[in-house]
Amino acid sequence: MTLYFDNAATSFPKPDSVLDAVVHYHKHLPASAGRGGYREAVEAGRMLASLRESLARYLNAPHPERMIFTLNGTDALNLAIKGTLRAGDHVVTTSYDHNSVLRPLHRLESDGLVNVTHVAARVDGLVHADDVAAAMKSTTRLVVMTHASNVTGAILPAKEVAQIAHRGGALFLLDAAQSVGRIPVDVTALDVDLLAFPGHKALMGPQGTGVLWIRDGVDVAPLREGGTGSRSDQPIQPTDLPDRFEPGAHNGPGLAGLLAAVSWHLSMGPEVIFARHRRLSELLFGILTSLPRVLVPGPASMEQRIPIMSAQFAGVDSLILAQELDRQFEIKVRGGFHCAPLAHRNLETSAAGGAVRFAPGYFTTDADLETLGLALRTMTVSP
Ligand SMILES: Cc1ncc(COP(=O)(O)O)c(C=O)c1O
Repeated sequence: MTLYFDNAATSFPKPDSVLDAVVHYHKHLPASAGRGGYREAVEAGRMLASLRESLARYLNAPHPERMIFTLNGTDALNLAIKGTLRAGDHVVTTSYDHNSVLRPLHRLESDGLVNVTHVAARVDGLVHADDVAAAMKSTTRLVVMTHASNVTGAILPAKEVAQIAHRGGALFLLDAAQSVGRIPVDVTALDVDLLAFPGHKALMGPQGTGVLWIRDGVDVAPLREGGTGSRSDQPIQPTDLPDRFEPGAHNGPGLAGLLAAVSWHLSMGPEVIFARHRRLSELLFGILTSLPRVLVPGPASMEQRIPIMSAQFAGVDSLILAQELDRQFEIKVRGGFHCAPLAHRNLETSAAGGAVRFAPGYFTTDADLETLGLALRTMTVSP
């Protein structure tokens, strides 16, 4: 039996209602939302509005029309980063951030436009708000930080960092790629200006879906122009949201699936889902830390972790270990650097080629985790 432990990359399986919604869209809504006044086009448009409202409710975010649909988390981050920064700006980010933050920033920095400071995690595996405060400059326009590490699962102090950014006159962009769906993400309580997240990870929607929420009053320049189905006689891109940022046909089936996914969270009760993730963290941490000669970097408290953990097995290449887990047990995990090279450098797992990441999902059972533990104790890997 296949055991999937790569829910940090994308969630699997999805709730049945998500799959049904994708099929239903393909079968019954042969239309592009907002293009045409016939029933199906109007219904597809209503579905998108309903998704924006459900997401706003789920994240306690005002202005549903400011939920912008993107291709994935990376696309949302690119829009937020490249749409807000200007020549001469300074940016603060962290060593825990993903290449979908690091690479756009690297590009802008190597073009001579911006200057970037990376705040490292301390030995306790956490990024400290004080260190972010110390990195701020008078020219800092943006602080961008992941809410939870995709390598260690460490939860970062989003609220404190938002306050530091605002005190310094900067915008705060939170990358909620791994937190949304696993722990509470309350846009109002966290006081974020821009929230980027994929629909296809713990939110349980289909691939090809992502969202950028933009706080009212935050100015973002669009990266793409084109048809929106609105003001079609005008040569310029409409300035009202969401059309300003959503040119071209939507991923209708994917977004219909995402609506079913958010509805699934709301009907299950988000607290029930968060509690299950917390339990998964405890079980996974217990299994990994009970193995001999294994390093599990990151915070020791489960309050500060989501169930994504990486482990370095002394003397064993992480890619080979991942390959052998698949070959011998059909257990799917990911070795290497997880698109977060600075995190591995910071955690000192780089020199040995990274680590093996384990990411159970909501549907992972306690028995699945026991099977994983047994496999890790009994597998044979030649050095
Ligand atoms: C922390 C973090 N940010 C951003 C992303 C990018 O998300 P996507 O794969 O939807 O582009 C990922 C994906 O692994 C991630 O872990």
